[in-house]
Amino acid sequence: MRGSFRIEGHAITSVDGMIADAAGAMPDSLKFPSDQKTYQQALEQAAMIANGRLSYEWQANSPKRKRLVLTRSVGGLAPDPDNANAWLWNPAGASLENACAALGVGGGTLAVIGGPFVFSLFLAIGYDAFHLSLAPGVRLPGGVPVFREQGRGRAPGDVLAAAGLRPGPTRVMDDGVAMVEWTAGGETA
Ligand SMILES: NC(=O)c1ccc[n+]([C@@H]2O[C@H](COP(=O)([O-])OP(=O)(O)OC[C@H]3O[C@@H](n4cnc5c(N)ncnc54)[C@H](OP(=O)(O)O)[C@@H]3O)[C@@H](O)[C@H]2O)c1
Repeated sequence: MRGSFRIEGHAITSVDGMIADAAGAMPDSLKFPSDQKTYQQALEQAAMIANGRLSYEWQANSPKRKRLVLTRSVGGLAPDPDNANAWLWNPAGASLENACAALGVGGGTLAVIGGPFVFSLFLAIGYDAFHLSLAPGVRLPGGVPVFREQGRGRAPGDVLAAAGLRPGPTRVMDDGVAMVEWTAGGETA
């Protein structure tokens, strides 16, 4: 917990730990019904979202969601001119607490939805949970990793483990997606 906030990350990766292809785009091969459903359900429960410019989730309720959009284009905080429910946030110039206050959100779940700059920023702030889905049989050589810390041969789980999170059981869905919830408190039921 960070104050009154529970911080939860969400990503689906290829088997080689990538969230987007070598061109920087998230391919359709990473889109699975089971993952999209659980992702949407989680975002419906969230009090607010933090995302990079290319990580907007494009769901029916997306425009209604309170969000922080990470950018260097502002010194600290500024209202998003394109979205009345969003603020632009540069963590170099404003704290997370100030950013949440600007949005008018006092607590609840903050859903972190990527990409790598945003996932790594919150690795340092501290996740309560990270929902990691693995897309069966998909490889994205030279792609975009979940975390900037991955480097050569390091899997997203290695980074989460190094940050003190522990994996719960793997749930394999009907479409083959393997879902693991990593938590700061250890294994979940
Ligand atoms: N498979 C998945 O689960 C998943 C999840 C999320 C994203 N993705 C994919 O990953 C790819 C990358 O997404 P992304 O571009 O949103 O990733 P990202 O690297 O997290 O986002 C870049 C964003 O962070 C900002 N930024 C970068 N450095 C910063 C700094 N030092 N201070 C403040 N802000 C900074 C950039 O803003 P400025 O350039 O304006 O400064 C930009 O908005 C996309 O293809 C996306 O679809 C996949």
